[in-house]
Amino acid sequence: MSEMRKVQRSVVEGVGARLPEKRVTNADLEKIVDTTDEWIVQRTGIRERRIAGPGETTSVLATGAAQDALAKAGRSAADVDLIVVATSTPDYTFPSTATQVQAALGITRGAAFDVQAVCSGFVYAIAIADKFIASGSHDCALVIGAETFSRILDWQDRTTCVLFGDGAGAIVLARGEGEGKISDRGVLTTHLRSDGRHREKLFVDGGPSTTGTVGHLRMSGRDVFRHAVGMVTDVMTDAFAATGTSAQDLAWFVPHQANERIIDASAEKLGIAPEKIVKTVHTHGNTSAASIPLALSVACGDGRIKRGDLVMLEAMGGGFTWGSALVRW
Ligand code: UT7
Repeated sequence: MSEMRKVQRSVVEGVGARLPEKRVTNADLEKIVDTTDEWIVQRTGIRERRIAGPGETTSVLATGAAQDALAKAGRSAADVDLIVVATSTPDYTFPSTATQVQAALGITRGAAFDVQAVCSGFVYAIAIADKFIASGSHDCALVIGAETFSRILDWQDRTTCVLFGDGAGAIVLARGEGEGKISDRGVLTTHLRSDGRHREKLFVDGGPSTTGTVGHLRMSGRDVFRHAVGMVTDVMTDAFAATGTSAQDLAWFVPHQANERIIDASAEKLGIAPEKIVKTVHTHGNTSAASIPLALSVACGDGRIKRGDLVMLEAMGGGFTWGSALVRW
């Protein structure tokens, strides 16, 4: 009998989330800036978002999401030897949010660090954790997307302040064994891209080494929109090509939740059926690196995403950065 080839796979064991308490509706925003519920819903799909209170820092939300993910996975913090937090809104310039999560969970072994790829951060973080696990160096990772974008918004700027929300989502990614087939459970392929020439289309106008301030988010929405669909469909096409799969094989499509029109146009371009799309943009707004794990948490919690499902994740954001991850649940 021929020897079966074994490969290391990183398997999603649990998904968790933590949202701030405070809901802010479009009607609430009508009182702050010159906007309407109708404009926001038509252009973006967003109806409400959560906004973090003073005590709800990025690390607090991230820790809550991590605890939820560990509970769902039936894991204890003692199992974790890697924490990767995707965020562009850390509690402090340093130390990393990941090390604060590590301390809050009482973990003293392994490594913890942040990844900064703005809205693509969670896809970057999965790709990194997957490579750590596949190499054999680490066994059990918390991969977290956590943001408090409300803290870097210019609340006078109606073109940006209506778009974003706060929150955190997390997954437990742990070592499993596969046969190198697309039927294996775990992360099957990841594709990361970036192009720094697009900085001025989506950036924050401050930082430690330039202004010595935190700064505010600035976006030329129309320019970002123009690039978004092409970029995310490119990396999803790469994922299909690398695995010999197609849109028909997907059980679920869990995109970055920036704008419903971008999500729908991307799905349509690749022939992904509308009923396979997980959308949370209506209730969460754009939570940057947190949007995918928050959407995963909703779709796992309500029973849509099940073990064995093929799930496509994708995101695009500041930098530009963009990427995809194809995962067998
Ligand atoms: O997550 C990272 C990636 N980010 C994104 O994916 C965001 C990508 N971009 C977008 O989602 C969309 O471009 C927006 C939702 C930001 C804007 O939608 P749009 O259809 O591209 O609108 P626009 O920027 O072309 O603006 C249309 C009009 C403008 O008025 P004029 O110049 O046509 O008179 C804006 O001033 O809408 C006006 N406008 C608003 N009106 C009411 C802009 N913001 C608002 C607002 N309320 N909040």
